[in-house]
Amino acid sequence: MERASGCEGTLSDMDDAPARAAALNDYHAAEVVDCVRCPLAQTRTQVVLGSGDPNADVLFVGEAPGYHEDKHGVPFVGAAGKLLDKLLGGIGLTREQVFVANVLKCRPPGNRDPLAAEIEACEGHLFRQVGIIQPKLICTLGNFATKLISGRPDGISRVHGNELPIAIGGHKLLLYPLYHPAAALYMPSMLATLEADFARIPGLIGAAAPTPIVVGDAAPPPTDAFRSSADVDRSEVAVVAAAREPAAEPQQLGLF
Ligand code: URA
Repeated sequence: MERASGCEGTLSDMDDAPARAAALNDYHAAEVVDCVRCPLAQTRTQVVLGSGDPNADVLFVGEAPGYHEDKHGVPFVGAAGKLLDKLLGGIGLTREQVFVANVLKCRPPGNRDPLAAEIEACEGHLFRQVGIIQPKLICTLGNFATKLISGRPDGISRVHGNELPIAIGGHKLLLYPLYHPAAALYMPSMLATLEADFARIPGLIGAAAPTPIVVGDAAPPPTDAFRSSADVDRSEVAVVAAAREPAAEPQQLGLF
């Protein structure tokens, strides 16, 4: 499945790590730091670009910066971020080994859900980040990121844990939708599912390598493609927004 992206700047010849890091820095400085593509520019403290390794195999995509991210300029620094760190640790990864970004680079006031117009204005930044980083795997966290990257309306409760081969700007990769960590903070059953889905990430990174020559019965099983559904999992959307509120600090949630 080819995902139309607007990431014309895919840097297919950029196989050198420092060059990729420089390209990402240059893009951020030239196009993102002072972005005024939507009205969130007027209410943000700063743009939250993303953080981690520009050469990472795995790109995590969340929803939007919340109160803490807006203050610090770094994604996932609140309660959901602490859970993300813990989940990464559980599969032997650190934040420094992956790249973490959001659908929106600026905080929606009051941590409301992203608006369609804001997503449309901002998506070019994310697709350009994908084009430069060229990850093997994009793990979308929650509904907004999953729908944007897949280009499909399927709700996260239906598609989580189901990898889908896609191409963004000609770059082939695996999309792997996951529940948003903020949702799992509120629902312990979701946390168990999220942990189980996370456990498959190392294997998927390996599987996402260039297609191997398959001999005889060694062919991999067909990928479980997304089921078709127009559901929006509103319960998940609501708790994700709530968790971006300043009040949703770890000690107040009593979850860490
Ligand atoms: N923090 C982020 O950076 N993104 C989210 O989606 C939630 C919290």
